[in-house]
Amino acid sequence: MIELKNISKVYNKSKSNEVNALQNIDLKIEAGSMLAIMGPSGSGKSTLLNILGCLDVASAGTYKLNGQELQSLSRGKLAAVRNQHFGFVVQDFALIEDYTVMKNVEIPLHYSKNKVNKKEKTLALLDMLGMKEKASEYVYNLSGGQRQRVAIARALINNPDIILADEPTGALDQKTGEQVLAIFKKIHKEQNKTVLIVTHDEKIAKQCEGIINIVDGKIVKKSY
Ligand SMILES: Nc1ncnc2c1ncn2[C@@H]1O[C@H](COP(=O)(O)OP(=O)(O)OP(=O)(O)O)[C@@H](O)[C@H]1O
Ligand SMILES: [Mg+2]
Repeated sequence: MIELKNISKVYNKSKSNEVNALQNIDLKIEAGSMLAIMGPSGSGKSTLLNILGCLDVASAGTYKLNGQELQSLSRGKLAAVRNQHFGFVVQDFALIEDYTVMKNVEIPLHYSKNKVNKKEKTLALLDMLGMKEKASEYVYNLSGGQRQRVAIARALINNPDIILADEPTGALDQKTGEQVLAIFKKIHKEQNKTVLIVTHDEKIAKQCEGIINIVDGKIVKKSY
């Protein structure tokens, strides 16, 4: 369960170009939900996702994850929460081009205490995503849809309970985007993971269980 109370984010505080990226955000998200986050460019969607995923901290307000208050945690403790609970997927995949598929997926394991059979776990995930045959392929030889599957495998390798995806279909054509969304739906349904997807695509958003609309750093509508 995610609970945000009165969350604000100010960039460039005390400078002349101060930006109020988020203002007084109240939000509750039940574990196991699949929601879309929509809003115009610059409205604060990525800022919200970064705060949720403990990549950044709010300027004010409280953030509780499964009852634990996060806003006063040290950077190190916050990083531990991030590694334990969150998997990230972004629009441009953020893969290392001259690493193999396998090596890219294993990257987060270097930062976690998760002692698993790396190779076995990576191959099982790639298999689930239809990418097992490409395990030894270099990323530069892959299509956009294949790259996003690799990025999803990497997001899942530490077995997070929450997937945060920032325009994951933004760089893909409609059909490939639909296929990637189908993967998120499957993960959500079969593994009961919370999935939050920032998207500009109504068709994608409509397939989620609800939509959070943000305008100018404020939540203007919630439908779930
Ligand atoms: N690191 C930063 N420093 C200063 N301002 C920032 C920073 N990151 C974002 N902003 C500003 O905060 C506001 C919200 O940005 P954010 O990236 O969250 O928007 P967004 O809704 O994700 O937009 P887009 O759809 O274009 O990705 C914008 O005005 C942006 O310029
Ligand atoms: Mg953004």
